[in-house]
Amino acid sequence: MEQTFIMVKPDGVRLCLVGEVVGRFERRGFTLSGLKALRIDRALAERHYAEHVGKPFFESLVSFITSGPVVAMVWEGRDAIAVGRAMLGVTDAGQAAPGTIRGDFSLSKEQNIVHGSDGPESAVREIKLFFGEDGLV
Ligand code: RTP
Ligand code: MG
Repeated sequence: MEQTFIMVKPDGVRLCLVGEVVGRFERRGFTLSGLKALRIDRALAERHYAEHVGKPFFESLVSFITSGPVVAMVWEGRDAIAVGRAMLGVTDAGQAAPGTIRGDFSLSKEQNIVHGSDGPESAVREIKLFFGEDGLV
C-alpha cells in the first residue's frame, strides 16, 4: 500500500475538472485519504517546487500555480505513485497520450491540469508539506 500526493492545479479548477480527476482516481480503485482546497502562496510554491527554483520557467510557474485555488489530495493504493503518474501523462500535455488526464484536457507544457508525486521521497515530502503538522497549510 502506497500514498501519493495529487493536486489539481489552478487551470484544472478553472476548467471545472476537479470532479473528473477525483472520479478517475476513485474508479481506478484508489482510496481518498486527504483533500483540501487552498491558495498556494510564493513561499509554499518555492518549497513545493524547490527542485525548479532558478530554472528559466520558474517565475512563470510561480505566477501560474499561485493564480487561483488548487485542490490538494492524498490517494492511497497499490503502486499509487507510478500509477498516478501514468494516469497524469507526460509533463508536456501536448505530448501526453490520449486517455491520460493531461492528454485529454490540455495542450500546454505549463498549464497541465494536475501535479503528481514523482517518487517515494517526493510523496512523503509533499504530503507533509500540504497535510502534515509541519506543513505550511
Ligand atoms: P508536476 O511536478 O507538476 O507533477 O509536473 P512534472 O513532474 O510532470 O514536471 P516537472 O518537471 O516537475 O515540472 C513542474 C511543472 O512546471 C511546469 N513546467 N513548465 N515551461 C516549461 O518548460 C516547463 N517545464 C515544466 C509544468 O507545470 C510542470 O508540471
Ligand atoms: Mg514534478
